Amino acid sequence: MTPLHTLAMPTLGVALLCLPLGAWAQETDPDTGLVQAEGWETVRNNCTACHSANLVTQNSGSRNHWENLIRWMQDTQGLWEFQAETEETILDYLAEHYGPKEDTRRPALPRTLMPDNPYPTVADPG
Ligand code: HEC
Repeated sequence: MTPLHTLAMPTLGVALLCLPLGAWAQETDPDTGLVQAEGWETVRNNCTACHSANLVTQNSGSRNHWENLIRWMQDTQGLWEFQAETEETILDYLAEHYGPKEDTRRPALPRTLMPDNPYPTVADPG
């Protein structure tokens, strides 16, 4: 009779191998960690000059979020202006590959579970 562990060990090994392979389905650039999809080089060229690409890859949000971030860096951190086409490429890329994470925000509480608002509010119209 075959001892159980001789069967279990290879199975476990294969299972462990499959985990990282699944997570790596999307090719990433070994230097920056950026997902290698359309536009990634434009993002690398424009978004890793002042800080690590980690700042980019660890962030996520809607296109609007990314646009606000870019405006903030342009207004306060010395980020240069982009040509419209370049900015489109960057925003398309970021919104597509570093978009909002669905499971990081809980849904809003129903009103009945909210504490009373301690502040005066505009009187009910009518
Ligand atoms: C001219 C310099 C410069 C360039 C180029 C630049 N950034 Fe930044 N960025 C900054 C600075 C400065 C900070 C603040 C760093 C800190 O807080 O340590 C920052 C912060 C960030 C953050 C973190 C914001 C937060 O809420 O903490 C993200 C994300 C980011 N940049 C993305 C980008 C992207 C995307 C690009 C390309 C479009 C880019 N950066 C290009 C200067 C730059």
